[in-house]
Amino acid sequence: MADNNFLTAHNARHMWHAMANAGEMREKPPQIINAAKGVEITDIEGHTVLDAVGGLWNVNLGYSCEPVKKAIRDQLDALPYYSTFRGTSNAPLIELSVELAEFFRPDGMTRSFFTSGGSDSIESALRLARQYHKLKGQPERTKFYSLKKGYHGTHFGGASINGNSNFRRAYEPLLPGTYHLPAPWDYRNPFDTTDGAVIAKRISAQFEDEIAFQGADTIAAFIMEPVLGAGGVIVPHDSFMPLMRSICDKHGILLIADEVITAFGRTGAWTGSRGWGVQPDMMCTAKAITNGYYPFGAVMIHDKLVEAFESSKSPLASIGHGYTYSGHPVGAAAAIACLAETKRLKVNENAAARGVELLAGLHDLSTRHELVGNARGKGLMCALELVSDRAKKSPAAKDAVQKVQDVAYKNGVMIRTSGSNIIMSPPLIVTRKDIQRIISALDAGLTAAQ
Ligand SMILES: Cc1ncc(COP(=O)(O)O)c(C=O)c1O
Repeated sequence: MADNNFLTAHNARHMWHAMANAGEMREKPPQIINAAKGVEITDIEGHTVLDAVGGLWNVNLGYSCEPVKKAIRDQLDALPYYSTFRGTSNAPLIELSVELAEFFRPDGMTRSFFTSGGSDSIESALRLARQYHKLKGQPERTKFYSLKKGYHGTHFGGASINGNSNFRRAYEPLLPGTYHLPAPWDYRNPFDTTDGAVIAKRISAQFEDEIAFQGADTIAAFIMEPVLGAGGVIVPHDSFMPLMRSICDKHGILLIADEVITAFGRTGAWTGSRGWGVQPDMMCTAKAITNGYYPFGAVMIHDKLVEAFESSKSPLASIGHGYTYSGHPVGAAAAIACLAETKRLKVNENAAARGVELLAGLHDLSTRHELVGNARGKGLMCALELVSDRAKKSPAAKDAVQKVQDVAYKNGVMIRTSGSNIIMSPPLIVTRKDIQRIISALDAGLTAAQ
């Protein structure tokens, strides 16, 4: 293992970091995280902080989840890899497919298609949606609708349905036939209202109008995150997802739920869609499926889609899509152990209870700090939006946002910034005391940045 001097000298010198400016990374190299335990991470200088980012919305069970670690170690010994393309399978994967069918039964999902992460799951769902319509004799259904501010990973398909120009502009032109509706956001929207129910109605009316314009028989699917994550933790009104479900049903459009963050308890429900009382046609999962310890994902497929794929003899029915690491045995073993721990610890219940405390703390901060324009969240996904002028809602200066992050870190808590948002997605095993720690560190950060 290289020593600390070596690591510091070479940090960001010979690599480009994801989601970062390569030049900026050379000037202000990233923190080197060397160790982690429980809900805490330790950097190269030995500074230990509570990880209020939860890795990247994925380390739901914290960093010391021994059953998942052991499952990975044991599976590496038994079978470290074999392909699951046509003709071969493996034991943990078969067991996992049974477990997932059971876990997602209340969502109506009965089949899984395995991937190596969130972007892969999105890409797979988009492809399966088009294929489904072809199998059903509607080959013209190829278009996709999604939400502005939505985040769906970075493959060309995912980037095309992404609703944030930061992830699009440098890579345009993107996939033709992808269209965006406004975000269901009560803080900023084009409808001149803060009433979530009204916003939901306006967006659904716009969707109907778009469908009439495009022709329902040209639209394959509408995709949304049950709670929009990377776009700034935007929590739609209760009525939004059910409304979109009913419009999709009316017009034969598939509803894909991007549950890459929200599946497995983060919003306080086992899946985000279940929390809104909706059964989508497909659910994209990844991240917490292995607690972030192994790159893995699964598209869950509703029973309604099964017959089209399983009873067709058409050459079009074969799934001409998949990854070398689809159904990786080590990932599958990790996922089985992770699901068992997730259920045993009932992390959804803790996410709901701790989420209420975190949001209350954030609202309290917003009453004491002018810099906070809006506090929002659901379960253990929360955000503070920082502004330089509350009335005008002008985004806070980059320096102020950075200051909050730096001072919070010095005060023992890692938070994530995205534009003028501070995003929190701690492990779902955090305690009441941990929540207080997050609030106190934010308080110190906001005081310093004011
Ligand atoms: C909602 C959502 N979808 C898709 C993705 C892409 O997942 P990955 O980064 O594993 O490819 C992410 C990643 O953060 C996400 O938050």
